[in-house]
Amino acid sequence: GPLVDTVFEEVTRACADHGGRARRTGATPPAGTTDSAGPPDGDGGGGPAADEVDATQVALVLRGAGALPAVAGDAPVPAGGEPGALGDEGFLLTRDGAVTVLLADAPAGLLYGLFHLVRLGETAFDPARPGAVHRPAVRRRMLDHWDNVDVHPVMGQVERGYAGGSIFWRDGRARRDLARLRAYGRLLAACGINAISVNNVNVHATEARLLTDRLGDVAEIADVLRPYGVRVHLSVTFAAPVVVGGLATADPRERRVRDWWARTTRQVYQRIPDFGGYLVKADSEGQPGPFAYGRDHADGANLLAEALAPHGGVVHWRAFVYDHRQDWRDRSTDRARAAYDHFAPLDGRFDDNVVLQVKYGPMDFQAREPVSPVIAAMPATRLAVEFQVTQEYTGQQRHVCYLGPCWSEVLGFRPWGPDGHRVADVVAGVPDRGRGGDLVAVSNVGDDPYWTGHPLAQANLYAFGRLAWDPRRDPRAVLDEWIDLTFPPTTTGDPERVRETLHALLDDSWRTYERYTAPLGVGFMVSPANRHYGPDVDGYEYSRWGTYHFADRDGVGVDRTRATGTGFAGQYPQPWSTVYESVDECPDELLLFFHHVPYGHVLRGGSTVVQHIYDTHFAGAEEVTAMRERWRDLAGLVDPALYDRVGERLDEQVRSATEWRDQINTYFFRKSGVPDAKGRRIH
Ligand code: GCU
Repeated sequence: GPLVDTVFEEVTRACADHGGRARRTGATPPAGTTDSAGPPDGDGGGGPAADEVDATQVALVLRGAGALPAVAGDAPVPAGGEPGALGDEGFLLTRDGAVTVLLADAPAGLLYGLFHLVRLGETAFDPARPGAVHRPAVRRRMLDHWDNVDVHPVMGQVERGYAGGSIFWRDGRARRDLARLRAYGRLLAACGINAISVNNVNVHATEARLLTDRLGDVAEIADVLRPYGVRVHLSVTFAAPVVVGGLATADPRERRVRDWWARTTRQVYQRIPDFGGYLVKADSEGQPGPFAYGRDHADGANLLAEALAPHGGVVHWRAFVYDHRQDWRDRSTDRARAAYDHFAPLDGRFDDNVVLQVKYGPMDFQAREPVSPVIAAMPATRLAVEFQVTQEYTGQQRHVCYLGPCWSEVLGFRPWGPDGHRVADVVAGVPDRGRGGDLVAVSNVGDDPYWTGHPLAQANLYAFGRLAWDPRRDPRAVLDEWIDLTFPPTTTGDPERVRETLHALLDDSWRTYERYTAPLGVGFMVSPANRHYGPDVDGYEYSRWGTYHFADRDGVGVDRTRATGTGFAGQYPQPWSTVYESVDECPDELLLFFHHVPYGHVLRGGSTVVQHIYDTHFAGAEEVTAMRERWRDLAGLVDPALYDRVGERLDEQVRSATEWRDQINTYFFRKSGVPDAKGRRIH
C-alpha cells in the first residue's frame, strides 16, 4: 500500500544521501514501483549475497501473517513476540549478524522504525546495541490546526497562528500546494504524529461546508497525508444540520437530526475511507451546542459518535466549557472549576468512540497551571489531554520557549499521589483510572519557510510528537535528537558548540518565560488589545472572561480553597486536595493560583511573595539578555538566514522581557509600597 511505497522512497533517499543502495524484495512489489537507487536484483526475494553484507546493511522486514521473507541469507527473523505483537505502529530494531534488522507487523511500524534509524545515525550499526521493541504509549498523537478557510476579520487566516498563513487554506480556498503538504506529512511522521484536524475549532460559515460541498478539499489533504500514516479529522459545528443541512433544529434527540448526521457521515467515508472523525467545540465561547435544546454534552457527543461508529471514526469533544460572560463582581463563579463541574458528573455516559479533550490545566494554556482535575475524575471516559504547541500564551513564537519540560511535568504528574498512576498512564489507559485516549496539541505550523516562524519553535513540534510516543522521555534528550536532525554535524561549523549553545538557550527557556511573565501561578496578565502578546496586568481584571489575580494594596492571588474560596481545590483527589488547600503545603509555583496572600507572606523557598516577584522578573529579563549573547556565539557556524531570523526574534524577546519586568515590578511596587530589598531600579 501507499505506506510501504513511502518507506521504500525514504530508504532510497537515505541511501542516496549516504552513497548506498536500496532494494525492494519480497512477494509482490506494487505495480509502478521503481527502484531508483539501482536495478532490481531479480533474485526473487532472497537476501543479499554473503559478500554484499557489510556493517551498515539494513533489512527492513514487514512481518506479514504468512511466510516471513528471508533476511541475510537464511538467517531466521529475530523474535519480536508473535506476529501482530508489535501492533500497528511498533517496530523491533535489532542485529542479525552483520545486518541491522528493522521488523514491523504493519507498514506504519516500518516507517516509524526508519525514522528512528535516521535519528540514531551511525549508532544504529553498533554491534553492541541491544535489540529493542518500540511501541507508542498513546495510540492517537494528534495536532489540531486552528486554520480558517476564509480570513477571519479578527483572527486572520490562522487563529493564534504565528508562522504566517495556513498551509491548507488561503483567502477562502484550498491552497493545493501538494508538494508542501507532502513535505508536511513527512515532517509529521518523522515526529511520530499520526492525526491532524485541518480547520479551526471555531467553525465559521465557510468552514462549516468542509463537511458537505467542500469535502473534496479535505479529501485532497487526506490523500496526500495518507502515505505518511496521518489520518485527517475535521472540526464541525454542532449546528451543522441547521447551518448546512437546512433543518430547523440540531436537537440530538430528533430523529431527522440523527439521520442527517448518519447520512452526511456516510458520504464523508465514501470520499475518505480512513477519515479520522469530528472535533467539536460546543457550548463554548459562543459556539453552538446541545444546551440550546436542553440536552447535555453526553447527548451531544453521542449523537456524532453514533454517526461515526459504523465507520470506525471518533468524536473529539472538547471540555473547554466555561461562562465567558462572567461578572467580575461575582466572586463565587470560578472559571477554573468549570470543566470539572460540567463534565465529571457525565462520566460513564459517553459512547466508546467519544474522546473528551481536556486542556492540561483548568484555565487556558498558561505558562503555569495545576494539572486539570478532570483528568483524574473520569475513569469511565476516554480522555485526550490537550497541549498548545502554538505559543499563544508563551511568547507567540517571538520568544524562545521550549515547552518539552512543561509537558513532561504534566505527563509525569501523579494525580493520586506519589504511588499512583501518572497523567500519561491515564491517557495510555489503566484499569479503574482511565480508559485510554489521546494526546492532542494545537499546531504551531504555518506557511513560513521554517514552518514555525521562530526556527527554534520547531523543537516544540518535535517534542510534542516524541513525548506523545513516549511520555517518559527526558525533554533534554528529545532536544538533543532535534538538534542533531535540524543542525546535522555535516552542515554546521562546530557541532559541539552548536549543541551546547542550543541547550543553553532552550533547556530552561520555559522557566525563564514563567519568571518574567507568570509569578507563582498567576496567569493572564497579557494584553487583550494586542492578542495576548505583551504585559497588561489588569487587562483581564475587570472583564467577562473570568481571569483575575485580585491584587490589592495588601495582597494578591485567587482563593480557591474549600474553606474560604471557590472550592476548586476540592476537585482534586487526595493528597492534592489537601496539599492545594493548605497555604503552607501548596507548592510555591502554584501558591497564587490557590490562595490570596499578603505581599509579606513567606514562601516555602524563604522569600516573601513581593520580593519573589521582583527577583524573578529581574532574573528572567537578565536570562533573556544572556540568551541573546549566547546565540551570537553561533555567528558563522549555522546558516546565515536562520542565524539572522533567530537573532531578530531574540532582540524582540529582550525588548519584551524588559517591558514585562518593568510593568510587573512597577505594578506590584505601586500596589504594595514595598521596596525591593536589593535596591534595584523599579520605575
Ligand atoms: C483560547 C484562545 C482562543 C481559542 C480557545 C479554544 O481561549 O484564545 O483563540 O478559540 O482557546 O481553545 O477554543
